Amino acid sequence: MADAPTLKLVTPAPTAAPAGGKRRAPARRATRARRVLSVGGGKGGIGKSLVAANLGIELARRGRSVVLVDADLGGANLHTCLGVELPRTSLSDFVERRVERIEEVVVPTGVPNLGLISGATDDLDAANPRHAQKMRLMRHILALDVDYAILDLGAGTALNVLDFFLVSDHGLLVLVPEPTAVENVYRFVKAAFWRRVRNVVSVYGFEEALREVMGNGAFRSPVEVIAALRERHPEAGATLERELRAFRPRLVVNQARTAQDAELGRAVVAAWKKYFGLSMDFLGSIEHDEAVWRSVRARRPLLLERPEAPAARSLAAIADGLIRIDAGGERSDGPP
Ligand SMILES: Nc1ncnc2c1ncn2[C@@H]1O[C@H](COP(=O)(O)OP(=O)(O)OP(=O)(O)O)[C@@H](O)[C@H]1O
Ligand SMILES: [Mg+2]
Repeated sequence: MADAPTLKLVTPAPTAAPAGGKRRAPARRATRARRVLSVGGGKGGIGKSLVAANLGIELARRGRSVVLVDADLGGANLHTCLGVELPRTSLSDFVERRVERIEEVVVPTGVPNLGLISGATDDLDAANPRHAQKMRLMRHILALDVDYAILDLGAGTALNVLDFFLVSDHGLLVLVPEPTAVENVYRFVKAAFWRRVRNVVSVYGFEEALREVMGNGAFRSPVEVIAALRERHPEAGATLERELRAFRPRLVVNQARTAQDAELGRAVVAAWKKYFGLSMDFLGSIEHDEAVWRSVRARRPLLLERPEAPAARSLAAIADGLIRIDAGGERSDGPP
C-alpha cells in the first residue's frame, strides 16, 4: 500500500498554498454532480447494492435527477437489483475510451429521473483500471450534471474501493449486526481515513512533517496525530484538521432483527468518536425483511415491488435524512 499512487483529488484552498508548493489550481468544471454518494462497507453480501439501488429510486421519486453507477468493478450486478436487462453499454466502454463522454453510457431504468451506468462485466482492464483511467472516471462522475450520482461499491478495502468512497460527499457505510461485519466496517473506515490523510499530506507536501510526528512508530489516533502536528507544524496541523473535517461517514445498519440491532448504529458512532475522535452520522437502520429477498428473486427493486414493506419504508426514511442533510447541512448522531 505504501507505494501505491495516492489520488490527487483534494483541492487545496489557494491561500493555504506555501510559496513554490507543488499544487496546481483545479480546472473549472461546467457542471458538477450536486452530491456524490457512495455505498460501501468492506464486507460482501451485506446489502450495499440494495441500499444504493433503492436510495436511487427514492431520491428520483422525490424529483431529484439521479445516476446510479455500478462501481463494483469486479462483481457488477446493479442492473439486476434494478430489474433491467444487462445494458449494451457499460463503464467498460468509457474506461476503454470507446466513448468519450460518460453520459453516453447512462441508460434509462424505467424510473423517471433515474439513469444507470452499468458495471464492467467482462473486461478485466475495466475491473482493475489503471491510475489514469480511474482519475478520468472519477472526474467524469464528479462532473455529471445530476442532483445525485450514487456509486455502488464492491466489497473489501482495495485502493480502488477506498478512492471511490473518498471522492464522494456522502460515504455511506452499510453494516449488518454481526461481529465480523462490525470488524470489517472499522477496518474499512480506518483504511479510508488513513488513505485520506496520505492524500491530503501528499497534495500539500506535508510528508516530512507527518513522518516526524509519527516517527517513533507508535500508533497514534487521528486526534493525537493532528494535535502533535499542530504543536510542531501549526500550518500543517491546521490544514490537515480542516481537510479531515470533511471525512464524515454516514452509517446504515441493514438486516436489523431486534431493537438492539438497530441501536448498534449509535454504538458504532460513539465508539468511533471515542477512540478516533472523529465524527460519523447514523442515518438509520433497515429491518431484515422477507420482502427484500422476495423482490430480489422477482428481479424487481424493493421500493417498486413492495413500497409498504418495513425495509422499504426505512430506506425511504434514510433518503429523507440525506435530503435533510443536503438541504441544511444538518448533522446528526441518529435518525429522528
Ligand atoms: N434488509 C434485508 N432483509 C433481507 N434480506 C436482505 C436484506 N438486505 C440484503 N438482503 C439479502 O442479501 C443479499 C445481498 O444483498 P446485496 O447484493 O445488496 O449485497 P452487497 O453488499 O451489494 O453484496 P456484494 O458485496 O456481493 O456486492 C440480497 O440479495 C438479499 O437477499
Ligand atoms: Mg453489491
